Amino acid sequence: MKYAIDCQELTRKFGDFVAVDRLSLQIHPGEVFGFLGPNGAGKSTAIRMLCGILEPTAGTATVLGYDLLQEVEKIKARIGYMSQKFSLYEDLSVLANLSFYAGIYSVPWQQRQSRITEMLKLAGIEARRDSLVSELSVGFKQRLGLCCAIISQPDLIFLDEPTSGVSPTSRRDFFNIIQELANGGTTVIVTTHFMDEAERCDRIAFITDGVLLGIDTPDNLKKEVIPGQMVELLLPRPMEHLDSIESLPFVRECSIHGAAIHVLLDSEADHDQLDRLTGFRSNPITPTLEDVFINLTKRRSKGAAQR
Ligand SMILES: Nc1ncnc2c1ncn2[C@@H]1O[C@H](COP(=O)(O)OP(=O)(O)O)[C@@H](O)[C@H]1O
Ligand SMILES: [Mg+2]
Repeated sequence: MKYAIDCQELTRKFGDFVAVDRLSLQIHPGEVFGFLGPNGAGKSTAIRMLCGILEPTAGTATVLGYDLLQEVEKIKARIGYMSQKFSLYEDLSVLANLSFYAGIYSVPWQQRQSRITEMLKLAGIEARRDSLVSELSVGFKQRLGLCCAIISQPDLIFLDEPTSGVSPTSRRDFFNIIQELANGGTTVIVTTHFMDEAERCDRIAFITDGVLLGIDTPDNLKKEVIPGQMVELLLPRPMEHLDSIESLPFVRECSIHGAAIHVLLDSEADHDQLDRLTGFRSNPITPTLEDVFINLTKRRSKGAAQR
C-alpha cells in the first residue's frame, strides 16, 4: 500500500453549499497529518467522508487501499475515530470503558487484558483505573478517549479537534501519545486550530471555505509561502508607520503583531536599509505557521477579487 489515504476531487455539498470542494491529497502510512483551518473550513466534513460516516457528493478515495465507496465496511474495521465529544461512559470506571470498547471493536478475548493494560499505561492513567470517568479531569478523559479509540490497534486514526478545551500541558501529553503511535507505524490524521500542534505534524493541509490552499511540511510551507526575509520591527505607534513601510520598494508586506510590525523583505540584504530609513533596529525572525496561514488566505482573497 503506497498511501494510507489517496483522494481525488472529494466533494461534499449540503444543498447548494459546497462544504468540501474537490479535495485531492495523499497521506503516507505512518504520517502525522494535520488539517488546519478556521471554523467552518470543512475539516470535519472531510474527515467524516474519509471514515465512511458521510457520503461524498462527488470524487473518489482509497483509504488503507480500500475503495471508499465500495469497501466502506473493510475501512471501518481498520480505522479509529475520535471526535471532540469523545464518547465515554461517565458513570463507568476507566477500566469498564476500556473493556466496553475492546468488546465493541471485537478485540480477541485472549488479547483483551493485555491491550487494556497497555492502554492504561499509554494514557498514564494506571493509578486511576477504578475511578469513575466523571471524576477525571478533561485531560485524562481525552487521553482515555484516545485509548478507547485505538484499543483494537487500528492502522489509521482520525482525531477531530481532540484537544479543544484542555490545558496546554494536557495537549502536549496528548501529542506525545500521537507521536508514539506514529512511530509504531499508525497513520494519524488530526484536525486542529492550534498552531503549536500543527508544528508537530509531519505535514499539514491548510483548508479554508472547503478549499485546500497549501499542503507540505511546516518548514517547507514557511519557506515556500513566505519567500524573502521576515523581520520584526519594534517602534512606537506602529500603526502610524505601517503604510510608509509597506510602500518601500523592497518590502513585500507588513502586518501588525501587538507592539511590533512584521515586515517581509525581498531579501536579507534589505534589512540594513530598512533600519536606516526607519531609524529603528529590526530583527530577523522565522515566520510562524500563523504568518503562513494569513498569507495563504490573503492570496486567496486577492485571487477571488481578480476574478
Ligand atoms: N449536516 C450539515 N448540513 C448543512 N451544513 C453543514 C452540515 N455539516 C457541516 N455543514 C457546513 O459545512 C461547513 C463546514 O463545516 P465543518 O466541516 O464542520 O467545518 P470545520 O470542521 O472545519 O469547522 C460549515 O459551513 C457547516 O455549517
Ligand atoms: Mg470541525
